[in-house]
Amino acid sequence: MVEQTRQNWDFRRFLDTLGFFGEIPFVGSFTWLQKLLGMKDDAILDSPTTAAGVVLVAGATGGVGKRVVQRLQQQGIPVRGLVRNAQRGRELLGNDVDLVEADITLPETLTPKVFENVRAVICCTGTRVQPVEGDSPSREKYYQGVKFYLPEVAETPEYIEYQGVKNLVNAAKPYLKQRQNEKMIFDFKQPLPNFTSLWGAVDDVVMGGVSESGIRQISGAALFEGNVSTANSGGFASVRTRPLDQPLDLSAYEGIELRVRGDGNRYKFILRGDDRWDGISYCYSFDTVYNIWITVRIPFAELIPNFRTKTINTGEPFPAQTVTAFQLMLSKFEYDGELNPTFSPGPFRLELETLKAYGGQPLPQFIMISSAGVTRPGKPGLNLEEEPPAVRMNDQLGGILTWKLAGEDSVRESGVPYTIVRPCALTETPGGKVLERDRGDTIKGQCSRNDIAQLCIDLLNAPEDTNTTFEVREKG
Ligand SMILES: NC(=O)c1ccc[n+]([C@@H]2O[C@H](COP(=O)([O-])OP(=O)(O)OC[C@H]3O[C@@H](n4cnc5c(N)ncnc54)[C@H](OP(=O)(O)O)[C@@H]3O)[C@@H](O)[C@H]2O)c1
Repeated sequence: MVEQTRQNWDFRRFLDTLGFFGEIPFVGSFTWLQKLLGMKDDAILDSPTTAAGVVLVAGATGGVGKRVVQRLQQQGIPVRGLVRNAQRGRELLGNDVDLVEADITLPETLTPKVFENVRAVICCTGTRVQPVEGDSPSREKYYQGVKFYLPEVAETPEYIEYQGVKNLVNAAKPYLKQRQNEKMIFDFKQPLPNFTSLWGAVDDVVMGGVSESGIRQISGAALFEGNVSTANSGGFASVRTRPLDQPLDLSAYEGIELRVRGDGNRYKFILRGDDRWDGISYCYSFDTVYNIWITVRIPFAELIPNFRTKTINTGEPFPAQTVTAFQLMLSKFEYDGELNPTFSPGPFRLELETLKAYGGQPLPQFIMISSAGVTRPGKPGLNLEEEPPAVRMNDQLGGILTWKLAGEDSVRESGVPYTIVRPCALTETPGGKVLERDRGDTIKGQCSRNDIAQLCIDLLNAPEDTNTTFEVREKG
């Protein structure tokens, strides 16, 4: 195809491009003015980044379990409660919550329906312990942890604390192990409300060229298409996000994964680590296969730093902790004047289904509430007088702590990424206290069920706590 080398330049498109991205050449950004006029994007990437999948809460009718369910609901996180009695569950948690009936001591009740689309399990089950004197007005004080009444177990701890927990983690395992720690950034399978205010074209019109492109949402994908021309010494078309209000911290991930269907062209994927319009771009070239969906992985470590297509040595790795923009480009050029070997001018088309960060540290997927004191029964040199009732009375309580420790072991051995939380005495206080953690199982104290519920939820996003066990109590 022979192209004209000189064509009329479209000054209006040039201004449109700069206007969309809030830039004036040689002066800089006027995003402050956009903000002032209320033009700036409002909810960039808020919805696309929420983790997919349901959190299963076992023991959803319990003191901690019901709070975990309620808080997950309030925080808009999909949740399912595992309860022994659905009617009781409804009375306690309302009709809006997704409930499944199962008993963790009966493996046949842990059916695929229980785990459908589950991404994590928070296990708040426990053997029912009650005051020997039975139900009385003063019983409330027992649960508040403010007064001691002689306790007894109403069920067999071996079944619930050990067999039950082991059944649960093993039944959950096949559903959980397939999940990777990745962060969805754009899921174009769903319509994105802020799409057109976020993505815009940056073609070679910015330097006098006449290439023209755009991006729009079609059914199940975003379509980057246009016509690339080498006239007027141009030769690139691209689409880019406006600078994100809140830079994304992707430092816990290895790179970006794209799901694309192209036309056989070689494209560039570009990231930026600061909010400068004309700053350093970090590029990666990838080949597409005509009309076939492919997955492209772009390790941060393989991004090539560029300034206006010249490679530079920044001496630093890509600043993945402050990702400010994403860009897709079809260009005649590779880097430092090298030509794109598959380039030919004319129409092009690239569909993008998803854009996510991949390769993060595994997240905890089985969070178990155990108890402080599980390693203390029978420990040489222990002064029982100073120990909490559960430790002192472990034998009378059917070895509850001993079986909890065995349950913990089954979680640690399961191969499922876990966190085991060992709270000190649980109370019904409002919470909001600072929690302190410890290891070695020596601390005593108390903590609010509210705070423990929130801790369990926070742990879902805490890769640093994966495969750890710790005790916890209120500070002060
Ligand atoms: N109390 C304390 O001071 C203290 C201190 C440290 C740690 N912990 C531990 O912290 C955890 C949470 O305490 P909590 O006060 O929230 O306990 P809780 O109120 O007694 O709740 C226990 C939950 O487990 C459920 N459950 C029991 N057996 C089950 C089974 N076989 N299948 C399915 N669900 C079953 C119960 O369901 P139902 O409603 O059907 O009975 C209930 O929802 C427990 O493991 C407890 O031992 C307690």
